[in-house]
Amino acid sequence: MPMCGIVGYVGAGSPSDRPQGVVMGGLERLEYRGYDSAGIAIVTPDETRLAVAKKAGKLVNLAKEIAERPLPVGTAAIGHTRWATHGSPTDANAHPHLAAGGRIAIIHNGIIENYAALRDELRGKGVEFVSETDTEVAGHLLADEVDSGKPLAEAMRAVARRLEGAFTLLAVDAREPHVVVGTRRNSPLVVGLGENENFLGSDVVAFIEHTRTALELGQDEVVEITPEAVVVTDLDGSPVERAPYEVTWDASAAQKGGFDTFMEKEIHEGPTAVADTLRGRMDANGRLQLDEGIVAPEVLATIDKIIVIACGTASYAGLVAKYAIEHWCRIPVEVEYSHEFRYRDPVVGPRTLVVAISQSGETMDTIMAMRHAQQQGAPVVAIVNVQGSTIAREADAVLYTRAGPEIAVASTKALLAQITAAYLLGIYLADLRGNKFPDEIAALLRELDAMPAKVQLVLDTSEPVRELARELADTKIVLFLGRHVGYPVALEGALKLKELAYIHAEGFAAGELKHGPIALVEEGVPIIIVLPSPRGRESLHAKVVSNIQEVRARGARTIVIAEEGDEQAAQYASHVFYVPEAPTLMMPLLTAVPMHVFAHELATVQGRDVDQPRNLAKSVTVE
Ligand code: AGP
Repeated sequence: MPMCGIVGYVGAGSPSDRPQGVVMGGLERLEYRGYDSAGIAIVTPDETRLAVAKKAGKLVNLAKEIAERPLPVGTAAIGHTRWATHGSPTDANAHPHLAAGGRIAIIHNGIIENYAALRDELRGKGVEFVSETDTEVAGHLLADEVDSGKPLAEAMRAVARRLEGAFTLLAVDAREPHVVVGTRRNSPLVVGLGENENFLGSDVVAFIEHTRTALELGQDEVVEITPEAVVVTDLDGSPVERAPYEVTWDASAAQKGGFDTFMEKEIHEGPTAVADTLRGRMDANGRLQLDEGIVAPEVLATIDKIIVIACGTASYAGLVAKYAIEHWCRIPVEVEYSHEFRYRDPVVGPRTLVVAISQSGETMDTIMAMRHAQQQGAPVVAIVNVQGSTIAREADAVLYTRAGPEIAVASTKALLAQITAAYLLGIYLADLRGNKFPDEIAALLRELDAMPAKVQLVLDTSEPVRELARELADTKIVLFLGRHVGYPVALEGALKLKELAYIHAEGFAAGELKHGPIALVEEGVPIIIVLPSPRGRESLHAKVVSNIQEVRARGARTIVIAEEGDEQAAQYASHVFYVPEAPTLMMPLLTAVPMHVFAHELATVQGRDVDQPRNLAKSVTVE
């Protein structure tokens, strides 16, 4: 299923080049969502057909096409960038797809599961297909409905009722020059409310330079935007009331702000992401304020298990939180990959608190796992970064990470914000259930409050990490070791190197080394080890020091991330990077940062596309 960038625009008055400008600008900011092809359709004064341009490859190819063959002025437009899985990325498979002889255009994010049967039905009526996509089927169905006399919005409702699967659809008809229609199911679509103009986008980044007033669409709703109005209905045509909200990000936030890559900018936004996630979260007497919805305190008081569902980096935030929440709340915490959770017939019930962690809030694996948990009666708290995203909307309660837009595919500041939010949840539970006295709660909050400044210190002293990355630019393997909360950090370090520098990196629990992985160690193999504080539980530090000795004895290049003042670290390390002193449970907020800096720098010196690594997209809205 493609995970796409979608933009729609309609404006008042006579035709202009504003529709094209708004849509192309929006696609540029959405390109991280997927980039195998791009296209645009413009509603022009010619009521018989639309003006369309579409090209395989990155958005720049479409821009070149338009420069060579300029598009006419218009009153409305829809645009699309695609990350393909069905149908190779070719010009023919690029969206928009046309129907009614080029009078109707449709763009789509998602997968129409019953498209084959629908295509056969259409073929039976003599419809010719020019692409191998499911989207084209929806386009011809729409044309049939319009040709039977329905206005575009009503036609879209009729089509959506026939589709199965997950989809965001936008469509325009040359005969309705001031209308764009959209619908969604299990796939994102938000409305931007302007002055005599309105917008649609797969997320708010598409239009926030024009308006920050947004409207989220619910499941199976159809929206018709004209310059004067936004009409939302359900699939039967009954009006639906949707409350607008203000998007707190501004257009500049979604730019690179002076850094070379979004990822570098976002690594440097880590301190702010932690501080903003903490901000205003505790009322005067230290009680947590959940953002939206609420899981009743009496429910939280009775839970006897917590299951975290997440994927990738978000799952490592969950793993870190497991150590803290189990320690504070004395409740078992399981951390499950969302895609495994649903299929293992998990033991879940009303006394299981499920915590869904997701930066995008659109990860289909996590959406489906959340729904499975809710079907079993479990309350779900979501820790999500994108306002109004599907997971945020469907969870029982939401604790937003306030990391701001994370554009780079590799998640960095969101990880720090996710750990912070998960800690706030753990502290809230410990307080509510009486596991911790008020003074202990206050102490934990003070420790958290001190972390943004310490993260900043790590950033300020990270040049040696970049130097080492440049030295290791040609390495073919890097191993990562960690113990206790350092273990998820080791996994995160390995994941970043895989997804950015395409190096086969691997993270292990340090204690696991002698059970097999140590066979990988030979002369010169770089091993990055997260060393627990010597001030913490003595045994942890001593054991990891002996792990460092073991691998060093076999020729490994030992790169140690240690706490300021830890003399022993330097004894056995080829390189030591110090992070400020912090309580053991707070350390991942610091030790994850060198992992991000290291991977970013190594991928950069290798000339990789750091913000948009190959084969990956920012939001994995496929199952
Ligand atoms: C992290 O750098 C990766 N981009 C990926 O593992 C990501 O964390 C995962 O796909 C989960 O995404 P989410 O947080 O948006 O759900």
